[in-house]
Amino acid sequence: MKLTYYGHSCIGVNTAGHDLLFDPFISGNPLAKGIDVDRIPATEILVTHGHGDHVADAESIAKRTNATLVSNYEIANWFAAKGVKSTVGMNIGGGAALGPFRVKYVTAVHSSQLPDGAYGGNPGAFVVTGPEGAFHHAGDTALTMDMQLLKPLNLRFACLPIGDHFTMGVEDAIKAAALMGVTKVVGLHYNTFPPIAIDTEAAQRAFSEAGLELLLPAIGASITL
Ligand code: NI
Ligand code: MN
Repeated sequence: MKLTYYGHSCIGVNTAGHDLLFDPFISGNPLAKGIDVDRIPATEILVTHGHGDHVADAESIAKRTNATLVSNYEIANWFAAKGVKSTVGMNIGGGAALGPFRVKYVTAVHSSQLPDGAYGGNPGAFVVTGPEGAFHHAGDTALTMDMQLLKPLNLRFACLPIGDHFTMGVEDAIKAAALMGVTKVVGLHYNTFPPIAIDTEAAQRAFSEAGLELLLPAIGASITL
């Protein structure tokens, strides 16, 4: 699997011939000025919750690429009303077949209002299982014991928020990785805004002392996992 980091919580995962794009927030991200939002590939767009820093560019990318937008029921309907043609709306604990993948919407402890004030349903995280294995994108969440339910899935990696303030910070993300049984973590939701600025070297040191690897690809960079 090839993972490309587009800043904040936005990643693209190229696997099994698909480009899965999570939580697109590029045009409003001061750190992602080097990314051309009109060139990001997507066959599916997965939106964890309704906050602007996770949905901002989803509509334009969905319309340009004809990607299927996958989220909770309320958010999927919100995008359908804006003219996004292909949507899949789930709810917590449910999954759906999506091409060669099974995508499951699982617990996140957070909130989920949409940018226009509309109700954004309950926030969630995604587990994607496909021909090259399973991985997790946590969206925005606190540490929660529900994460231990993911351990038997043998996740190849997890993408976890580490910026603190609005989500888990480093200390809790390390505990989350242990609950989920993953050793490779891609860090999300840090440094974009002053309240979530972190010391990335200290974060990587803390993960490494816990026997884990914290991957922090530069914005625009790709890594193979
Ligand atoms: Ni949020
Ligand atoms: Mn957020």
